[in-house]
Amino acid sequence: MGEAGDGPGEAGDGPGDGPPDRQSADPFTYAAEAGRRRAWTFLDAAHGGIVNPPLWRASTIVYDTVADLDAAPAHMDERLFYGRKGTPTQWALREALTGLEPGAAGTILFPSGVAALAAAILSVVRPGAHVLVPDSAYDPTTALLDGLVAGLGVVSEPYDPCAGSAIASLFRPETRLVLLESPGSLTFEVQDVPAICRAARAAGIATLLDNTWAASLLFKGIAAGCDMVMQACTKYVGGHSDLMLGSVSAVPGRYEALRRTAWALGQCVSADEAWLALRGLRTLPLRMERHGRSALAIARWLEGHELVARVRHPALPSDPGHRLWRRDFAGASGLFAFELKVGSRADAGLFCDGMRHFRLGYSWGGYESLIIPIAPERIRRLSRRAPAGLMLRVSIGLEDPQDLIADLHDALARVSALPPAV
Ligand SMILES: Cc1ncc(COP(=O)(O)O)c(C=O)c1O
Repeated sequence: MGEAGDGPGEAGDGPGDGPPDRQSADPFTYAAEAGRRRAWTFLDAAHGGIVNPPLWRASTIVYDTVADLDAAPAHMDERLFYGRKGTPTQWALREALTGLEPGAAGTILFPSGVAALAAAILSVVRPGAHVLVPDSAYDPTTALLDGLVAGLGVVSEPYDPCAGSAIASLFRPETRLVLLESPGSLTFEVQDVPAICRAARAAGIATLLDNTWAASLLFKGIAAGCDMVMQACTKYVGGHSDLMLGSVSAVPGRYEALRRTAWALGQCVSADEAWLALRGLRTLPLRMERHGRSALAIARWLEGHELVARVRHPALPSDPGHRLWRRDFAGASGLFAFELKVGSRADAGLFCDGMRHFRLGYSWGGYESLIIPIAPERIRRLSRRAPAGLMLRVSIGLEDPQDLIADLHDALARVSALPPAV
């Protein structure tokens, strides 16, 4: 680094020192520029600057004087203090994610999406609280509420993800939090997020949206009225299936409680993960455009196939969530599900084993296509209807969609001799 005063986080480098005040509304421009503060990328006039905020790995920060040492703990953010509070690498990613959710006061990073969900929930609930969770929530979210959070004396109750403003009828005097996830995991119900958040806010109840499917790019949760928006950056922000990371962005009234909770829990993220995630974010809009286009083409092809009973993809006009998706989303990502007229979970191997392009794997959002057999009825508490035939979820990657269609065509041919599902 240069002389004292030139380092990251120090003011005085000229334009671009502080948070961007003229952030572009265009997603491509935003992704190219976000988090690249001059203070984090510029050494000094003699040495110049670089494009990307560098990877600063640190546990220990050192000080020149006792006065500096004594002053350091008071610096909450964007000043070096101790590794757990981050370095410019994590700050740059946090700033970039905050800008994806207009109206957010800030973003806290977590070592996984589930860790982000846990801290956001714990920042709100106290013993005796009641929490509402959509029946279509990601399975570990429900497990967290039923396990660790229930052990703290917090009662959670599932609600119909399509409830809309009628959710107010489920509010109790002790309701403190409504969770949302749209579209829902495995079954892809689109929620009326603005209506649910309006009802919750009117009753003084906090809201927390899992916005991973839209990656805070295709849906702006804070602008839609949510108090906290989390995403598993493990998925689309990372985009390359090689990192674990979660984030929560929060409105001003919720941000301090979130930060205090995260710090109390000792949550922090390695600089390597943050750096990779910020690199992923640069191409997020570009990748998402292709994920969305390819997935919709494949969903349409599947919908026209004689062995396919139903395709659950909100961008299809046949999908029950299509009207809300059109109203609220700027596009679709690459994750959806479909049900066959034949087979059952037991026939998944016949369909999936030996696929040429789709790989079997429990994640999604990467550049590579993935497929898994699913059985949503096993993790639902309200709607336990099992699909008649084999049901599968696909994450459409960046490959040529025609290759992926050919792979699905062959898989469908392999199960075509199975008897019709009843
Ligand atoms: C909708 C959703 N939310 C949260 C998570 C959790 O993210 P992570 O695996 O980073 O803990 C996942 C992971 O699959 C997910 O699908």
